[in-house]
Parts: sequence; structure tokens; C-alpha cells
Amino acid sequence: MSVEILEKEIKPGTTILNVEEIREDFPILAETFSSSKGPDIPLIYLDNAATTQKPRNVLEAIKNYYSHENANVHRAIHKLGERATVAFEKSRSKIADFINAPSARQVVFTRGTTEAINLVVNGWGRKFIKAGDEILLSEMEHHSNLVPWQLLAKEKGAKLRFIPFSKSKGTLQIGNLEHFLTERTRIISVTHMSNVFGTINPVRGLIQKAREHGIPVMLDGAQSVPHLPTDVQELDCDFLAFSGHKMCGPTGIGILYAKEKYLEEMDPYQGGGEMISAVWLDKATWNDPPHKFEAGTPNIAGAIALGAAVDYLNSIGMEKITTYEQKLTTYALSSLQSIEDMKIYGMAPFRGGVISFNLGEIHPHDMAQFLDSQGIAVRAGHHCAQPVMRKLEIPATTRASFYLYNTFDEIDRLVISLLKAREFFGHGTR
Ligand code: ALA
Repeated sequence: MSVEILEKEIKPGTTILNVEEIREDFPILAETFSSSKGPDIPLIYLDNAATTQKPRNVLEAIKNYYSHENANVHRAIHKLGERATVAFEKSRSKIADFINAPSARQVVFTRGTTEAINLVVNGWGRKFIKAGDEILLSEMEHHSNLVPWQLLAKEKGAKLRFIPFSKSKGTLQIGNLEHFLTERTRIISVTHMSNVFGTINPVRGLIQKAREHGIPVMLDGAQSVPHLPTDVQELDCDFLAFSGHKMCGPTGIGILYAKEKYLEEMDPYQGGGEMISAVWLDKATWNDPPHKFEAGTPNIAGAIALGAAVDYLNSIGMEKITTYEQKLTTYALSSLQSIEDMKIYGMAPFRGGVISFNLGEIHPHDMAQFLDSQGIAVRAGHHCAQPVMRKLEIPATTRASFYLYNTFDEIDRLVISLLKAREFFGHGTR
């Protein structure tokens, strides 16, 4: 199908977001790269599953914090310390509202999704998982929701079990969840949205089933929370981990949401200042959650800026963002499928804006480099999901991933560049 036909069929009715206006909010999107062959090339940023760009209000929040509020939180009597603490805790409340957490106490600041998962593995898993217990994951997990569990399983003599995925669709073969549960299953931890396939997993049903067996469920929300309206009470998940930098916030800040019961029973993962109530030379007692899990000076500017990112996303509306990205993804999938020798990995009916592909025998790294020469930023590699690549029997894929500021024209530019790559590499070798 040609790009022109697709434009007529799918592009109309996509005035869901004023994308041109949104793009103005992101200074980096105006970047261009000089080219020896002609005029400067504009940036087309399609690596949003790796990290997203930051709007002006987030950049301003960081600058404002260091210019007018910089002090340590929860420690100082002075006015600046009070100002920093108020801004820090206000941000926690905004994030709690964003995911509809019952209370801001249930929002723990971490460095990112990885640290949030490690906190559950070490704070909860280390205390409650015993030799012979089972931990149920899926085969499509990012290394961050796999390796921490491997470390724990090795230490405890526990067993990892995996819900498989279908190679043709990139969907979880959950079927009858009971099949994967035994009386030794202690926790289920799965990704809400795959960073390779874009698949949105049917986690609500999975959680309901787990509930019947009294098994807690953690969701890796790194790819879902930035793109889908998230209501932890409706999902009824026990833990949710996500990162600020994938949702317009800065790097180095993330969140663990957990139900109160778990925050109470979990041990701290790291010891230090602020996480204590009282300390003796030979023992200590803990502060209340969430502070019990926030040892040391936190990333204060990052936390405040993540609050600004939440303000930004709320000002646009998460439902509109999801709808727009769905249309963009449908358009991108149709456009890419029209290219000869295109292989797309993951064709789930419910999916987000992450498309992994290979074109003919062109190596994904060569492809990413070629696209870069055209100003298009994509990721190539195993996407921190080596077991997924192994099952697909490929070394890597090229991955394009979208966010609210991407346009249909950028997808067209991607398609044109892929056609050029095909011409450039011929039948290439992988
Ligand atoms: N987790 C990020 C990705 O999938 C870095 O690219």
C-alpha cells in the first residue's frame, strides 16, 4: 500500500492532539544535523521506548529547583529546606494521583524501574521467598524484571517459571493461568507492555486470577505508564514499577507503588539516613513508608521535575495521548508492512507504539546507522531482552517507538528512509 493511500485512509480524524503545538514545548525536537550532502537534516526521534524528550516545564522545574529551592529534604529547619520538602512531597502526591494510588505514602521514589523492581525482590522477596518456592515471570521480560529474580532464586534455592510468548504474535500464551500456578507460587511479576513487541498484556485478568490464589502481582510499567491511563486501584496490582525518563521526566528518578500491606511488611533494601526512626550502635528501627525505602539524599530535583512531567501529561490528557499513539502505530504498522522483505516482530491486537523489525538481511545495527544518517533515531540491539531474541532466533532487531510528539509525516520519512536503505544495502548480509 502506498503512503498516499494510507494518508487518505488513516490520517484523517487524527486531530486528537495538536501535535505541532506540542512539539513547540520540546526544544530538542528542533535540533538539526549538518550534512555534507545538502541542507541540515531535522531530527526524527523514534527512540521513545529507550527514553523520551523533555518539555519546557520539566526543564524549567529543574532550573527553578536549583535556582530557588535547593536544600536537603526532611532534614532542615530553615526556609529553603522547607521549600524543597514541600515541593518534593507535592510531587509525590501528584504522582500518586496520576496512577490513582489511594495515598502518597504508597509512592516510593527510586532511581527508576530497575531499582523499584530490585527493591521488591530484595525487600519483599528476600524475606518471604524460601527454598523450593516458585516465582512466575514471562518469557518477554526486560532484563530488569528477570536478572534480579535470578539472583534471588539462586540465593534462596527458589525456582523461576515462565509464561511463554507466541513467536508469531508476540503475545503471552496465558490461556489457563492455573497451568503455571502451583501451591509454591509466591509472586507473579510481568511486564504490562513489552519493550520489544509493544504488546499490552492482559494483566487485569491475570491479576484477578492471581487474587483467587492469594498470589501478589508486580507489574513492570516502564513502557505502559507513560502511554496508557493507569489506575492501580482498578488494576488491583500489588506492586507497580515505572521510570520518570520514559514519561517526559528526567533520568535517575522512578517509582515503586505498592499496597500498604507490602510496604509495612517489606524490609528496607538500603540503609542510611532518613530511612530510620531510631539508631543505636548495634540496631535501628525504621521510618514509616515511603521514607523507610528512601535511604540517603534522594534525587530531589528529579522528583520535582517528574511532578512537572505529570502536570504536562495531565494538561494534554492521557486518554488522548493513548488514542493518538494508537492511530500513529496503526499507520506505522500498515506503512512498514507495505515494504517488501519487512519482518515485524509482534502483532498483538492490543499494542502500544513500539515496533521491532528487520528488513531483509540488513543487520539492525547497519540499519540504525543508516537511519541515523537520515536524522532518524531508532534503537537497534537486543533491547535488554536477550531471551526474547534467543527464542525468535535472531541476534537483534531495529526498533522504532513513538510518543505524543511524533507525527504521521515522520512515519512517512521513516518509510522513505527504509526504502532507501533497502536500495543502499541491496540484499545485504546479516
Ligand atoms: N528499557 C529501555 C529500552 O527498552 C532502555 O530501550
